[in-house]
Amino acid sequence: MTEPIVTFKDVHKSFGDVDVLKGIDLEIKPAEKVAVIGPSGSGKTTIIRMLMTLEQPTSGDIFVGDQNLWKMEKNGEFVAANEKHLREVRGDIGMVFQHFNLFPHMTILENCMTAPIHVKKEAKKVARQRSIEMLEKVGLGDKLDNYPSQLSGGQKQRVAMARALVMRPKVMLFDEVTSALDPELVGEVLEVIRDIAKEGEMAMILVTHEMDFALDVADKVLFLDEGVIAEQGSASEVIEHSKNERLQSFLHRFRS
Ligand SMILES: Nc1ncnc2c1ncn2[C@@H]1O[C@H](COP(=O)(O)OP(=O)(O)O)[C@@H](O)[C@H]1O
Ligand SMILES: [Mg+2]
Repeated sequence: MTEPIVTFKDVHKSFGDVDVLKGIDLEIKPAEKVAVIGPSGSGKTTIIRMLMTLEQPTSGDIFVGDQNLWKMEKNGEFVAANEKHLREVRGDIGMVFQHFNLFPHMTILENCMTAPIHVKKEAKKVARQRSIEMLEKVGLGDKLDNYPSQLSGGQKQRVAMARALVMRPKVMLFDEVTSALDPELVGEVLEVIRDIAKEGEMAMILVTHEMDFALDVADKVLFLDEGVIAEQGSASEVIEHSKNERLQSFLHRFRS
């Protein structure tokens, strides 16, 4: 049995008195590609943000490999994780947001190099070489010295992907990365994600409304609804053959 790279055990999350997540149990294996679908407000981004250590669960446990993300062992007891522990565990996780969050005053090559140099303490030459490789992989090898403002939305999103890949994460999180793009730019970004997915070894969690893309790329699809995983299975089981009425009506909105 391969050990999971991500595990959620009965994870709850409330904001004030609003219970957003009501007991999420989840296992993701290394290299597994998991699509998360569900209505707006169902907690998809909250799941991603907790994994990225931007939100803390109200209760329950999240593991990355065998490391408890939010707790650390101290004198045989589990206590709240400190910043150092969070940083270490987060080192295995990469993320691409809906809005690209590139540094506007840096070239796209510099955007990719900065985290390996400053977070991972990589030599500048190595970081530069690997950043160029990743930018070539996402089809931007001829734009290294451009600034973000000189790129289209699709190109910016591909830079964001290269920037995450340079950190060699074991898990990549994609939160609706195409939903802020003009429709004609969506395809090029999905194509790059598809290529990365096919390469294999990295696990991916993809929050998406692109059902054809999920069918093509995802090993497993989760339907999040009212704070729980209401349905899960292979992409075909969930997207094409589920009898769950709320899922069907949700899917209906994305199929013309
Ligand atoms: N920081 C926050 N403070 C208060 N409420 C929040 C916060 N983040 C998310 N929520 C609420 O949690 C619910 C789930 O949000 P979210 O995870 O963004 O859903 P989704 O990504 O599925 O659209 C929403 O009702 C949202 O308003
Ligand atoms: Mg969201």
